[in-house]
Amino acid sequence: MPSFDHSRGALARSSAKAIAIGCHKVGDDDLALTDSGSEIAEALEADLLASLRAVRFDGEVGAVAALPAGHGVNAESLLVYGLGKADDVDGEVLRRAGGALATAAAKAPSLAVALPGVDGLDHESAAQAMVEGIELGSYRFDEFKTDAEAIALEAVTIHGADGADTKTVKRGIATGEATAAAVCLARDLVNAPANAKRPTALAARAKAECKGTGIKVKVLGHDELTKGGYGGILGVSRGSEEPGQLVQLTWSPSGAKKHIVLVGKGITFDSGGLSLKPGGSMMTMKMDMAGAATVLATVKALAELGVKVKVTGLMALAENMPSGSAIRPGDVLHHRGGKTVEVLNTDAEGRLVLADALVHGSDLKPDAIVDMATLTGAALVALGDQIGAIMGTDPEVIAGIREAGERVAEPFWELPLAKDKYDERLKSEVADLRNIPNVSGQAGTVTAGLFLSHFVGEGIPWAHLDIAGIAWTDNGTATYQTKGATGAPVRTLVEWLSRQ
Ligand code: BES
Ligand code: ZN
Ligand code: ZN
Repeated sequence: MPSFDHSRGALARSSAKAIAIGCHKVGDDDLALTDSGSEIAEALEADLLASLRAVRFDGEVGAVAALPAGHGVNAESLLVYGLGKADDVDGEVLRRAGGALATAAAKAPSLAVALPGVDGLDHESAAQAMVEGIELGSYRFDEFKTDAEAIALEAVTIHGADGADTKTVKRGIATGEATAAAVCLARDLVNAPANAKRPTALAARAKAECKGTGIKVKVLGHDELTKGGYGGILGVSRGSEEPGQLVQLTWSPSGAKKHIVLVGKGITFDSGGLSLKPGGSMMTMKMDMAGAATVLATVKALAELGVKVKVTGLMALAENMPSGSAIRPGDVLHHRGGKTVEVLNTDAEGRLVLADALVHGSDLKPDAIVDMATLTGAALVALGDQIGAIMGTDPEVIAGIREAGERVAEPFWELPLAKDKYDERLKSEVADLRNIPNVSGQAGTVTAGLFLSHFVGEGIPWAHLDIAGIAWTDNGTATYQTKGATGAPVRTLVEWLSRQ
């Protein structure tokens, strides 16, 4: 990961190997340099726009032209990044520009970036977005490669736009760094192979990550879960040689007025259990703990940023495997709090571990509970890998999260928690509930959400994020999204909680 710094000096005098300036698109095919761009053009005594046209640079967001710098500036190379139309520049544009710069500067050890002045975007947010873009775009998962190339880009200096004061830009850089580090942590955990993050190992990792942060960590292992009647986590874990774990992270700053509980699905591998998945569907199922990874990364970021909200994070960890001691279709589980569930499909395991965690979270009497889970393939089918599904009982919480998601370009679309329509499909003949609806192939994301609603304490505002689509991408649309784990929705939650 590169380190970030701030400078008020002239970009032309920067000692960085590469310097970067922005360039807007005007009309259909005209270009306009930003103020810092014009200054560099002057220092170089060059017709920069002519050079940019010669290399067919179009000024689109995500485009970067690399030019030799020449005399007049210290740097060896000049990177010109596209900003699109001036009226459309926002945080996401800068984040995407940052992602593109990370790729373009991958072979330079140091980079100095001039931020553009943007109407309607404060200097702090601009710095934050650029830092996030560069750091997330530099992300590589090479822990398991023996011949990994070291990332060359080590140091990035941010030059604020005209009129930006040092403190403001520095604050933006710090927020960007903490947020991006949290996203990268979530990506690392989700990308990690399942044999390197089995429940006890992941619980130990959570402890290690929280050392020295002020976050208190409590781990409920097999014995505590048995004593406490956490039949969902225990039941799912039965098919694995590894016991399940419930990790509780507490960030409790003085002066906090609100207490929010975050719950994450942490299936470290989802084979489907005895309702075994076909091989192809299993290939990415190491990602089935993305909810729990999001919880850990978010709480860590809040502590790092000193956010004044009390947050309890719950990671419901289990491995869903099909051994001789695995739960069978038709088995009944006794959940924390007493409700019973008939398990008719062992591949609908996420809701079983979440049920216990939601009861545990409700017992803490928080102001709101938000759970996140790679819960249903149907969420991926409905909304793809760029839009998350949200539902719940509290319009204000849902709106708040959706607005935060909109601000950081992690959009969520609300699905109805249609109790009156579909809840009866979850009634069991032998237990309180069945874990899959009695009508298959319909509204899978909604019925999963409805199942969870039965375990949320009466009157506690609750939202459920189905992140089965957005936690992972095989393509990546934005420049700062790398293939594999996306780290979503860490940025949304950090944004939402920072404004509570
Ligand atoms: N972990 C899966 C959901 C999933 C699928 C996440 C694809 C990411 C990508 C979940 O445990 C699961 O298997 N759900 C079943 C539920 C069904 C049995 C009711 C599903 O979606 O098919
Ligand atoms: Zn499953
Ligand atoms: Zn699963």
